[in-house]
Amino acid sequence: MTDVQTRPEATCQHGRSGAPRRAVFAGAGAVGAACLLAACGTSSSGAGDEPGFTNDPIPAGSASPGAGSTGGGDSSGGGAALAAVADVPEGGGIIKGDLVITQPQAGTFKAFSKVCTHQGCDVSKVDGGVIFCPCHKSEFSITDGSPQGGPAKQPLPETKVKVDGDNIVAA
Ligand code: FES
Repeated sequence: MTDVQTRPEATCQHGRSGAPRRAVFAGAGAVGAACLLAACGTSSSGAGDEPGFTNDPIPAGSASPGAGSTGGGDSSGGGAALAAVADVPEGGGIIKGDLVITQPQAGTFKAFSKVCTHQGCDVSKVDGGVIFCPCHKSEFSITDGSPQGGPAKQPLPETKVKVDGDNIVAA
């Protein structure tokens, strides 16, 4: 009791640890209650020892930081865009990332691994309706990835894709 009365400020400043906390609870009177209230409202010290802790609460009704960040974007939960529809020529294709993305017919999009099934080179271009590997001149169909010439005997593995708005995404 006497401890609380002689050091009220120290108790308030250190109400979250050790002996002063005992003093707060031992006091349990007006001083203790005032200290607890003050500790709740204080935003200057005491939070530095908790990484990621903030004294600024999220206002009621606010969304979490990640929930409100998609406004106006093109993400609809279907995954990241692999390519823009407009970038893939009809009757041809593009190499983007790990994929060859083709449009064998208008509005039909396909995607294949860009790794040649012969000896693992990356294919280098899409031209004349085929996907071309520069290492030993294998060619693959833009429609189904099947080998069309050269030493490769296995098709390029296909990745299912679909159109989502202006983009091609994984299906
Ligand atoms: S690695 Fe592609 S043709 Fe040989």
